[in-house]
Amino acid sequence: MISESFSVNEKGHLAIGGADALQLAAEYGTPLYVMDEDAIRRTCQSYRASIERFYEGRGLVLYASKAFCCKEIYRLVASEGLGADVVSGGELYTALQAGFPVEKIYFHGNNKTVDELCYAAENGVGAIVVDNLTELQCLNGLLERMDKHQNILLRIKPGVDAHTHSFIRTGQIDSKFGFALETGEAMAAVRAAAALPRLRLKGLHCHIGSQIFDTEPFCHAARIMIRFMGDIRRETGLSLGVLNLGGGFGIRYVGEDDPAPYESYMQQVSAAVHESCKEQEFPIPEILIEPGRSIVGSAGATLYTVGALKEIPGVRTYLSVDGGMTDNPRYALYGSKYEALVCARAGEKPTKTVTIAGKCCESGDLLAEGALIQECAPGDILAVLATGAYNYSMASNYNRIPRPPVVFVRGGQPRLAVRRESYADLVRNDL
Ligand code: LLP
Repeated sequence: MISESFSVNEKGHLAIGGADALQLAAEYGTPLYVMDEDAIRRTCQSYRASIERFYEGRGLVLYASKAFCCKEIYRLVASEGLGADVVSGGELYTALQAGFPVEKIYFHGNNKTVDELCYAAENGVGAIVVDNLTELQCLNGLLERMDKHQNILLRIKPGVDAHTHSFIRTGQIDSKFGFALETGEAMAAVRAAAALPRLRLKGLHCHIGSQIFDTEPFCHAARIMIRFMGDIRRETGLSLGVLNLGGGFGIRYVGEDDPAPYESYMQQVSAAVHESCKEQEFPIPEILIEPGRSIVGSAGATLYTVGALKEIPGVRTYLSVDGGMTDNPRYALYGSKYEALVCARAGEKPTKTVTIAGKCCESGDLLAEGALIQECAPGDILAVLATGAYNYSMASNYNRIPRPPVVFVRGGQPRLAVRRESYADLVRNDL
């Protein structure tokens, strides 16, 4: 199986975190998101351990909560000692409602609203990651009126070469996120931030993209950032103490995906940080990392009930399920690949090639094409694997389809973390 969260039990059924998928579907209905809590905890622990090991504990793992956001995941990652990256007032609100330690919350976004900035500053978030000059000025003014000070980081585009790594989308100059290094904009932002009395410039942030398998672009970005910290000290006398290296570590969605173990990412990036600091004679900064997908992605699956099977001779077989792009828009958006299996026959060899279609009124509403699954009939429960990241958090109510519930499984025992939306929920804000 593609991750340790999935296994075949003695009945030949799919088990998720040790819980029988058919029993979960019977108890909670479908579609249903299932998260293996033990696996999520293990990943949190191994990230924390690598901060201990490679940076002598001088750092913090921030869970990038855009990957999967609800109160229960904030409680879970807080109990594992992680901080959180939030990217909107809504994520911040959810974290605060869950009792997340506010000083460990880092607030991101390329266009935070005035209300969001006030909300974050009022609550005293650990740091606001400032994206642009407008925000810098605006935040200082707001803090003046609030008679407060605020820790900030500046988001920098390290200019990592997108030509060699086409999946890197956020680190290059043509990106809506952050200050560019090449143009001198980043240095100007550092000077401006240092001069604004209400802002406490603690350090820098970068994030080069997501679902990246290769370690080198991360190392490259780390070297560039440390060099820039050296330049800042030479040019302004400021010695910044925090470097946030972002997230983006890739996970296995299908058999051919081959991510490096996180330990090895961490080890190599740490070696790059240490070497560059030595070269610059710069003290090793506190290191923050922001994994999202790699904490929750492989730990989740979505269960569906199979409806119509439509065989079009010589063309393809459509297998329709009771969910679709509303609970997982990633195939429609990015052509992302997923593995699927028939839960009751999880141990059997897959023999059937199908296109898995959702129930939306939209031809592009597909979850997979060319998926190889076991023999299957209407009424069977189908699982799509590795849906823990960017599925529930990107779900919509298109066609007024209620969002599925989320169940966490710990020690083989399920519990509801998010209720299924009702039709009444759908009209709650309608006047
Ligand atoms: N930090 C920052 C500033 C980010 O923008 C992101 C992701 C992360 C951390 C976490 O990256 P991760 O470790 O999860 O790769 N919706 C897309 C993914 C968008 C990622 C956005 N930023 C998808 O479904 O693939």
